[in-house]
Amino acid sequence: MFASSTQSVPAVQVVPRHIAIIMDGNGRWAKKRLLPRVAGHKRGLDAVRDTVKTCIDLGVGYLTLFAFSTENWRRPADEVNFLMELFFVALDREVERLHQNNIQLRVIGARERFSAAIRQRIDAAEAKTAANSGLVLTIAADYGGRWDVLQAVNRLHAQGVAQIDEAGLAANLSMAYAPEPDLFIRTGGEQRISNFLLWQLAYAELYFTDLLWPDFGKEALEAALSSFRSRERRFGRTSEQLPQAHRRG
Ligand code: IPE
Ligand code: IPE
Ligand code: MG
Repeated sequence: MFASSTQSVPAVQVVPRHIAIIMDGNGRWAKKRLLPRVAGHKRGLDAVRDTVKTCIDLGVGYLTLFAFSTENWRRPADEVNFLMELFFVALDREVERLHQNNIQLRVIGARERFSAAIRQRIDAAEAKTAANSGLVLTIAADYGGRWDVLQAVNRLHAQGVAQIDEAGLAANLSMAYAPEPDLFIRTGGEQRISNFLLWQLAYAELYFTDLLWPDFGKEALEAALSSFRSRERRFGRTSEQLPQAHRRG
């Protein structure tokens, strides 16, 4: 069980232990080049590869990527179908490489609306990489923060738990295996959470960049990390209460 940022004061790290990213701006990247939106999604996969590599090099423990939200089903059927196909192909092609790199792959989200073929690929990829001890890479697909809180509450309800506490709820969230994100990044210029990890972002440092996701490379991630290092993480306390090394300015 990982410490909760509201129940205790987390250790402050130089390199975030967990980075969560909303990979936004694929459609606009393509539009700028007069390409179909889906070309942006394709290029987005290259940015995923780069980001995974940089996280490994930097010693990040957990990387969580928002790939498809519960609200993204509202998009035109053609785009949804393309994204499903891309997800399927990526699961097929990338898993061996992830495995070679000692990465543990996890997928969080509702899953029911995925095809049986995709569900089977997800299960196989998770099983293959389950014992890996390197980066824990989580893909949030058909994921919504509200869905996650509700499925946790419903699980507790089914177990007959009448009084729910923080620890009990957190233990039933779909990412109970990971510490809360230290750093949240959103590309694409929008400054919103769009129903990502609502519970776990309570004390995350938020970083927004106008770069579109396919343009987000190593330097861009380093800029986010540099911003992260400049933050004073107080978790409710005053600056004077912090150890000298954790004070900024
Ligand atoms: C993010 O890029 C990828 C998904 C939501 C699947 P978008 O497709 O939202 O790109 P923009 O925001 O329209 O540019
Ligand atoms: C958020 O991006 C979801 C993902 C990146 C998967 P959206 O493009 O769907 O977000 P909104 O609709 O602009 O808030
Ligand atoms: Mg978008």
